Amino acid sequence: MTERTVITFGTFDVFHVGHVHILERAASYGNRLVVGVSSDALNFSKKQRTPVYSQQDRLKIISSLSFVDTVFLEESLDLKEQYIKKHNASILVMGDDWLNKFDQFKAICDVVYLPRTPSISTTAIIEVVKSIE
Ligand code: CTP
Repeated sequence: MTERTVITFGTFDVFHVGHVHILERAASYGNRLVVGVSSDALNFSKKQRTPVYSQQDRLKIISSLSFVDTVFLEESLDLKEQYIKKHNASILVMGDDWLNKFDQFKAICDVVYLPRTPSISTTAIIEVVKSIE
């Protein structure tokens, strides 16, 4: 069987059902799913927030999912092309909050943007927890 590797990226902090949905759907586009988990430093540079869960814990959580085959630490947004090539990925899947942001990679792989799961995000969960006295 031809190997069709899917790659996706994210912080996946305070793991929630929206994360499960995107990873499950990403996996269905191929027969091997590789996930780049943003490092704590990269997340800080993207979102000006230190993740609640450490990068080691986030790697552990994502790698424990049955539909995830390989995880690695994404250290820089500028290395996406290298990561895609290194992992031999033929499809890049991202949530549609990134719509058109990765179109330049269509030169080396398919790029698919999937709709986000409505009404849930790490930021919203953190806000809810903060509001509880
Ligand atoms: N995602 C999704 N549906 C959601 C939340 C996230 O499909 N409700 C997807 C994102 O589009 C991305 C991946 O999950 O492809 C990782 O997103 P991440 O930024 O880690 O999660 P968020 O909940 O969006 O985090 P934050 O609130 O910090 O932006």
